[in-house]
Amino acid sequence: MKITSIKGMHDITEPESFAWRYAENLIKKQFEDFGFTEVRTPIVEYTQLFTRSVGEVTDIVQKEMYSFLDKNEESLSLRPEGTAPVVRALIEKNLLSHDPIQKLFYLGPMFRYERPQKGRQRQFYQYGFEVFGVAQPRQDAECVFMLVDLYEKLGLKNLSVSISSVGCPKCRPQYLEKLVKALSAQKSKLSEDSQKRLEKNPLRILDSKSPQDKEIVSKMPVMLEHLCSECEIHFEAFKNDLKTLNVNFNVNKNLVRGIDYYKRTVFEITSSSLGAQDAIGGGGRYDSLVEELGGPSTPAIGYAGGMERLIMLMDQDFEKYRPNLKYFFVTPDEKGAEKAFLLASKLRQKGVKVEIDHSGRSMKSQMKRADRLKAEKVAILGGSELEKGIVLVRDMATKQQTEVSFEDLLK
Ligand code: HAM
Repeated sequence: MKITSIKGMHDITEPESFAWRYAENLIKKQFEDFGFTEVRTPIVEYTQLFTRSVGEVTDIVQKEMYSFLDKNEESLSLRPEGTAPVVRALIEKNLLSHDPIQKLFYLGPMFRYERPQKGRQRQFYQYGFEVFGVAQPRQDAECVFMLVDLYEKLGLKNLSVSISSVGCPKCRPQYLEKLVKALSAQKSKLSEDSQKRLEKNPLRILDSKSPQDKEIVSKMPVMLEHLCSECEIHFEAFKNDLKTLNVNFNVNKNLVRGIDYYKRTVFEITSSSLGAQDAIGGGGRYDSLVEELGGPSTPAIGYAGGMERLIMLMDQDFEKYRPNLKYFFVTPDEKGAEKAFLLASKLRQKGVKVEIDHSGRSMKSQMKRADRLKAEKVAILGGSELEKGIVLVRDMATKQQTEVSFEDLLK
């Protein structure tokens, strides 16, 4: 029986992998230019880390985690997201004692047992970042600016930035009480799912996709109109800072993130070209999480985006992202092959991207491969070239051929 990959988990091969590398390089450069350094955390963590941070009654924890008992009977989970592991590492390595401001980025696979569909996998890659130690709204605006600028550099179009505030422990409980009261009065008209959510996680009703819920939600009180004065001031300043940086945004009163740790600022970047799973990425503030997980009280904000969705939005002519191949050595006979073997290796030592075919195939098949690999130049080296001490270099674009001495080639 043929063994296949697991449902919702995919191989990425060329030419798609060219686009991945291109995007990853640009993402890393962008994050580094904005002062972030890389953090790599394990793919597996204690399950408790996610139940305590992402939230006991979220879809992620209740339905989507790949959890298992290890040989020591401890409950472990494949990470469904990157924020909780980064916070754990921050506390465990006591990073804030070296510098009270920490700006960390990551890129790697995450796992959620969701129903696979376009833009939704069970193993997916996230690129994300977290800033610790800055409470000011200017930081929030800079994060959004960095992302919008990144997406522009990657050639993405039709993006929108939605922002909102989910309040803080001071104003949210009062609002929740009001919301639950108003929703309870309409309980029988809510969808079955939302009736259950009413008890466990009423905020999730606000982003329900069911038309009957949407109608009710449109008449519900909204968090944004119940912010305490500190949250209100933060949100106003955030908006002003976005305007200063000329970032277009819309305020989405019903923006609910599916994770419990958020406080104040939340935001999402969406694209109308994505279909049902339209979020390129999302993030927000989580000013209490570090303390809740046992660290010092530390404000924080972060974001994560899905790589697969990003790739879907880039130019789909993936060949465009193929790394440039400088020389392809074509060896018509064994006489030239040994010399070419040596020259190719020397060029590679110098950091030049070179390909050579050791299979002893015909010159025609070697030329075909050079063409397929989009070599800039073909270097032909057979017995007659060897006698003259030259390589015949053909420019694949202009078809011009020149004789180049071995020394000049290595220069
Ligand atoms: P999230 O909204 O759960 O946030 O995920 C962020 C992004 O990851 C989504 O917008 C989407 O692009 C991608 N994503 C999520 N699930 C899948 C999936 N099953 N298949 C493909 N892509 C997916 C977080 O994970 C937070 N940790 C973000 C954050 C960082 N907040 C603060 N700091």
